[in-house]
Amino acid sequence: MVAEDIAARLRIAEAVVREAGALALDYFHRRHELKIDAKGLQDLVSQADRESEELIFARMSEAFPGDSFLGEEGGLRQKGPMMWVVDPIDGTANFVRGIPHWCVSIGLVSDHRAVLGAIYDPVADELFAAVAGGGATLNGEPIRVTGQTDIVHARIGLGFSYRSDAGRHSRDVRTILEAGCEYLRLGSGALGLAYTAAGRLDGYYERHINLWDVAGGLVVVAEAGGRSSDFLTPAAVSEGNELLVATPGLFDPLRRLLPAA
Ligand code: IPD
Ligand code: CA
Ligand code: CA
Repeated sequence: MVAEDIAARLRIAEAVVREAGALALDYFHRRHELKIDAKGLQDLVSQADRESEELIFARMSEAFPGDSFLGEEGGLRQKGPMMWVVDPIDGTANFVRGIPHWCVSIGLVSDHRAVLGAIYDPVADELFAAVAGGGATLNGEPIRVTGQTDIVHARIGLGFSYRSDAGRHSRDVRTILEAGCEYLRLGSGALGLAYTAAGRLDGYYERHINLWDVAGGLVVVAEAGGRSSDFLTPAAVSEGNELLVATPGLFDPLRRLLPAA
């Protein structure tokens, strides 16, 4: 894709992620009115998630009718060589409890590569964005991963859902702590990647995560100088994958502690 096309897509993605974030923030302030449905064990959805996704779909399908669109709530709706991948609210469990740590994430995937990402945290008014080859930004200012190389000074984000094995996750936590590494489990995979890119965390790990959780964040991490495991395999679109991202100096030591299989 030519540079002007991707720049135009980024401008629209940034405007749309802000618009969807404002819609979700309005619901966040009156969340007690929301009916919450369970999709699975500890997996929630509300009207706020559905409306945020509908808004993003309406804007993207109007602007780019030849692109494909995959949303967490509505699935795959259009077919095309490039695919918009949307998490309308990432951190829904935080959102419905009034915990101000959630975001809206839009990514663009082409040829199994993440080419554009826009992640918006409306509570903090923080927009993390990147296009492949163009650097990563937070509210327009360049961001970079930390230079951390030492596990005993590192603090990473961990994620867990009941899609993966609870015992394995418990062992991962123990391994991390016994190596002298600290961890946080903040409840938004997309913000875990954005925080790694911005140097607030030294990495992020989750044994199983879906494409919509990370499609926006992968390119933001890469453009901020971070390293990622090979997430975007052909199967990852429908099945998700495991994901490790980290500063260049911590990636290998963390990979040894947290092997993929
Ligand atoms: C979840 C969050 C959570 C991660 C899970 C995701 P949701 O997404 O990103 O942090 O650990 O794997 O499913 O349900 O809040 O959109
Ligand atoms: Ca999510
Ligand atoms: Ca979600």
